[in-house]
Amino acid sequence: MPYISRMSSQDLLLLKTCRGEAVERTPVWIMRQAGRYLPEYRAIRARYTMMEALNNPELAARITLMPVDLLNVDAAIIFADLLPPLIGMGLSLSYKPGRGPVIANPLRTTRQIDRLRVPPAEESMAPTLEAIRRVRSELDGRNLPLIGFAGAPFTLASYAVEGGSTRSFTHTKSLMYAQPAAWDRLMIRMVSIVTDLLQAQARAGAQCLQLFDSWAGALSRQDYVRFAQPYTKMIIARLGDEVPVIHFSTGTGSWLSEIAAAGGHVIGVDWRLPLDEAHQMVQRPVMGNLDPCALLGPWRELRWQADEVLRSMRGRTGYIFNLGHGILPNTPVDNVRRLVDYVQESTG
Ligand code: CP3
Repeated sequence: MPYISRMSSQDLLLLKTCRGEAVERTPVWIMRQAGRYLPEYRAIRARYTMMEALNNPELAARITLMPVDLLNVDAAIIFADLLPPLIGMGLSLSYKPGRGPVIANPLRTTRQIDRLRVPPAEESMAPTLEAIRRVRSELDGRNLPLIGFAGAPFTLASYAVEGGSTRSFTHTKSLMYAQPAAWDRLMIRMVSIVTDLLQAQARAGAQCLQLFDSWAGALSRQDYVRFAQPYTKMIIARLGDEVPVIHFSTGTGSWLSEIAAAGGHVIGVDWRLPLDEAHQMVQRPVMGNLDPCALLGPWRELRWQADEVLRSMRGRTGYIFNLGHGILPNTPVDNVRRLVDYVQESTG
């Protein structure tokens, strides 16, 4: 691991924790830390569309570093999005103000699935990889690690099939149940795209990789095992042990052991179950657990909730402080800053 020698203690907090080693204090970062709750981010988005920001390495690098400067978090996560890898596959993605991501030609037929392309990430995701190289050279000076990420096959496929956000996943589940062979072909393509993208991010300088299976909780336990888990497992197995992998999902608390069985050095935990129970279920380092809504409340409530989370892991190694899901756009920045300081001070 050539990068270790360049690091000092703040870098090592996250990476050592991922490997299950004891650390001086709990590392903290915030999912979606580079996002709309930051006035500095909104100022950039007033001048550039989401797609322009994603495709501009200089801008993406600048956005990535914003929370590092403003919040003193213990890691940066590359400013990118889950869905742009679908563009190279042949899907037409746009970000609509107020509506989020929309795919104009969602996958509804086996013919469409069989025509999907699998281009190399170096080609289709070049701006993000260039942004990673730029951020890494900045972060080396600050001794902070950079996290790369991608969507897990089920979550990515659900966007590709639904064409946007959904509550019921009707098209996705109909495809799974009615055309299991086509579903398998689709998921195998997702495995190729995601594995290649994560490997390319690691080569470009990401020292930790997060796999987002944000919507896995829409599945029953047995459907997760049949239709999602085998593919996530392939990706994590192919990535090996050189760069630690955080395996994140939400709504999966009652069968978190199946998420863990798919792999990952660290398991993401939402706020729906106590962290000590989650830790017991997965038997390895965990990340997350604070309800993102706690950041909307008064400090005494936020501190009480943060204390509960910290208390549940006290005396155990293997915890990365984070929210149970992404930070909400209406979160006051002062609360986030105060929370990050509090975690760093009270665990040090
Ligand atoms: O964590 C970070 O700061 C890194 C950047 C990041 C973004 N999206 C930037 C973004 C990450 C890690 C993501 C992941 C992502 N994207 C997920 C999984 C994480 C999760 O929350 O479960 C999903 C499901 C997506 C797809 C996506 N992108 C949606 C549904 C939306 C619209 C709704 C929303 O939350 O904004 C986006 C847009 C998006 N991705 C924004 C950002 C900063 C907002 C774009 C804007 O400026 O309007």
